[in-house]
Amino acid sequence: TETQQIILFSTIISLMLKKKDSYIVCACYRKNGEPPLIKGWIPFLGKALEFRKNSQQFLSQLQQEHGDFFTVLIAGRYITFIMNPFLYPSVIKHGKQLDFHKFSDSAASRTFGYPPVQSGLFPGMSDSIQRSYTLLQGSALDLLTFSMMGNLQQVLRCRFLSSEGSGSDGHWQEAELYEFCKCVMFQTTFNTLYGHSANLCLDQLREDIEKFDGIFPLLMARVPIALLGKTKEIREKLIRFFYPQRMAEWRAPCQFIQTRMDLFQQYDTLQDRDKAAHHFAMLWAAVGNTIPAAFWCLYHLISCPEALEAVRAEIINVVGEKNMKLIFEEDITITRQQLEQMVNLESSINESFRLSSVSMNIRIVQEDFCLCLDAQHSINLRKDDIVALYPQSTHLDPEIYDQPQRFQFDRFVEDGRDKTDFYKCGQKVRYYRMPFGSGATQCPGRFFAMNELKQFVCVTLLMCEMQLPENQQEAMLDNSRAGLGIMPPVNPITFKYRTKKNRGQYEEGGMD
Ligand code: HEM
Ligand SMILES: *[C@@H]1O[C@H](CO)[C@@H](O)[C@H](O)[C@H]1NC(C)=O
Repeated sequence: TETQQIILFSTIISLMLKKKDSYIVCACYRKNGEPPLIKGWIPFLGKALEFRKNSQQFLSQLQQEHGDFFTVLIAGRYITFIMNPFLYPSVIKHGKQLDFHKFSDSAASRTFGYPPVQSGLFPGMSDSIQRSYTLLQGSALDLLTFSMMGNLQQVLRCRFLSSEGSGSDGHWQEAELYEFCKCVMFQTTFNTLYGHSANLCLDQLREDIEKFDGIFPLLMARVPIALLGKTKEIREKLIRFFYPQRMAEWRAPCQFIQTRMDLFQQYDTLQDRDKAAHHFAMLWAAVGNTIPAAFWCLYHLISCPEALEAVRAEIINVVGEKNMKLIFEEDITITRQQLEQMVNLESSINESFRLSSVSMNIRIVQEDFCLCLDAQHSINLRKDDIVALYPQSTHLDPEIYDQPQRFQFDRFVEDGRDKTDFYKCGQKVRYYRMPFGSGATQCPGRFFAMNELKQFVCVTLLMCEMQLPENQQEAMLDNSRAGLGIMPPVNPITFKYRTKKNRGQYEEGGMD
């Protein structure tokens, strides 16, 4: 089908970069108001393994040559990039002609191995799934936040006070930061969403998901799973983890997952294996971006003493000294309302998103039509063409963000509140930061993700002091995953930590 022919841009763009010299650039305008067309030669998919170049640079260069929108012909598909944030609203508004769900359904079903939800076999299921997403917001989010808080404290307490190190008596310890974030966020997110069971080996599950995740860009790029070594085996093992009879034994899954279990149960056409594949896909969605996001936030904070100080002071101010001292003895609560008061922390998280998010927004043209971009520009699009937004170019636009490569923790705070006015050429930009996608298809887990990240930073900083050793290389982004969410770091980062238990000197480390 036509959707199955779609190859994820990021792969393609990087493939094309490998062959940059061999471009045939045809800058001629096509007839009747179509955007300038850049014809590449057709790259070979096997080269998807080399997924390394800088798509951001590539697109900026095309923007300089051709303007704010242009079409690139790749492997028989016409992909129109809209590069100027002032033109985003027109794309976001046309949800009917520019569809996301068909694309995501087909890509997800191929990647996670379940039958397409919109295949006609499951009447009403797509809508019910969309409705279930409200259970990641509103009052359901209060419960999730509460449960996450308990899980985080349990896991971190255990980690910091474990006997394997002498961390508990206040000596400095060392660990690898990404590993730390992965262990903690994986286990706590899993428990919060899917519940608890004594018989589960979550470390093994995490290892398998990591292996799968390493291959994920290739699956998205439509490399057949049979060509990817043990990937199929690993995926089947991951799916087996979520069989209904196993999940039935897990204690206290959240309302969202419970509702999905009940929903899948209503469809005889859905095999147990398919139900399990859906649950596996959701776990991947829930940890895949959150873990690297947790890394970048903590990393930037501990790299920048001024930011760490401001965020720490804010947390202590909201939580209170008393609670802070109790945290090793008993669970403390930080409510959703309290989390909302932490603007410096929120701004730091958003600033980390700005620097590490490369989520591309993809839409498929449903019918020939003329897209009006602004008062001066309209472009004709053809059915089955792809329209893409590339927010990273906005995130790093020096006209919008002064010194765009710099982490500036309070970039999004003004007078103690969220700063939302950003300008380009004197005009206010609406879509200046979009790690979660846009419009009707925005990530449904974004509120939960934001809270999780805040809680993770809060509990970690309440329990210990953290530092980076001197003379360490800076963390760098793994560009091989460009286009697919939050980029992970490529190089290991060592950090030093020392728990605050029994030290009775909470003032130390500048927490006045
Ligand atoms: C920092 C963390 C996260 C980031 C950056 C992120 C980002 C995204 C993005 C960019 C999309 C695609 C939206 C689009 O293209 O318009 C998406 C979709 C999705 N995300 Fe997230 N996400 C995060 C965390 C989560 C969490 C914690 C969950 C679940 C608990 C989740 C569940 C989903 C689901 C189910 C979809 C598919 C929605 C659909 O097909 O309609 N995400 N996410
Ligand atoms: C951070 O981002 C979220 C979601 O994008 C937004 O709702 C919030 O207002 C932002 N906060 C700050 C301080 O920038």
